[in-house]
Amino acid sequence: MSIQTFSGRHTLRTLKAMKKQERVAMLTAYDVVTASCLDEAGADILLVGDSLGNVVYGFDSTLPVTMEMMLAHTGAVVRGSKRALVVTDLPFMSYQVSAEEALKNAGRCLAEAGAQAVKLEGAYPSMIETIRRLTEAGIPVMGHIGLTPQSVNQMGGYYTHGKTESDRERLLREAKALEGAGCFSFVLECVEENLAAEITASVNCLTIGIGAGKVCDGEVLVINDVLGFSPGKSPKFAKVRADLKSIVRESAAAYIQETKS
Ligand code: KIV
Repeated sequence: MSIQTFSGRHTLRTLKAMKKQERVAMLTAYDVVTASCLDEAGADILLVGDSLGNVVYGFDSTLPVTMEMMLAHTGAVVRGSKRALVVTDLPFMSYQVSAEEALKNAGRCLAEAGAQAVKLEGAYPSMIETIRRLTEAGIPVMGHIGLTPQSVNQMGGYYTHGKTESDRERLLREAKALEGAGCFSFVLECVEENLAAEITASVNCLTIGIGAGKVCDGEVLVINDVLGFSPGKSPKFAKVRADLKSIVRESAAAYIQETKS
């Protein structure tokens, strides 16, 4: 399927047209060179994830990430890409306090950094209202349910969601609420595969899975996990396709040896 848009980038329309036609390939990116490589490789969506807190800044959670960090990295990813839709994660406490704060911060991602959409976590009633306010204001929103890393303290760790009947019912309800509030897409992170399939079949917007099997409309991975360039071990569901840390170590060692000899 060949998809062309007026700006050359994917839009919500071209992406939504992919449902049931072609899977959406989404990767995280945080800098200009990686963004241009992933864009040239054909990524449909580049996510400037707040996972940069872990893989770029070395924090042990995404909670210390700030708006300033997200704006700076988003600008780099936008400048490095031509075709992919760029989505920016709203960081912890930039959208939970009030819908007004969410509007202001999401607006900055689009107006100052050049993103085309924002992503935020959760689907509880006041967050659904915030998403409605954002989409009504013309700000495209990608939701995120299941494992939501910004709530790690509340959840008590990182684990698979949708294992009990009440959890399944809640996630199905949340998926419907995200669609109703105007999300063009949402991430299902670490959700039981059969539930992810049921959710995908029950909504018109795009579901993007991570650690949720191969049943969603698309998939997202943290690029450092794919390239073998993460501070820790890559998660089990991420197929590691390169060993970039060894390449960097060996290239640097060769340079250092040559310089000193
Ligand atoms: O921050 C991030 O990279 C994410 C993806 C893992 C979905 O939210």
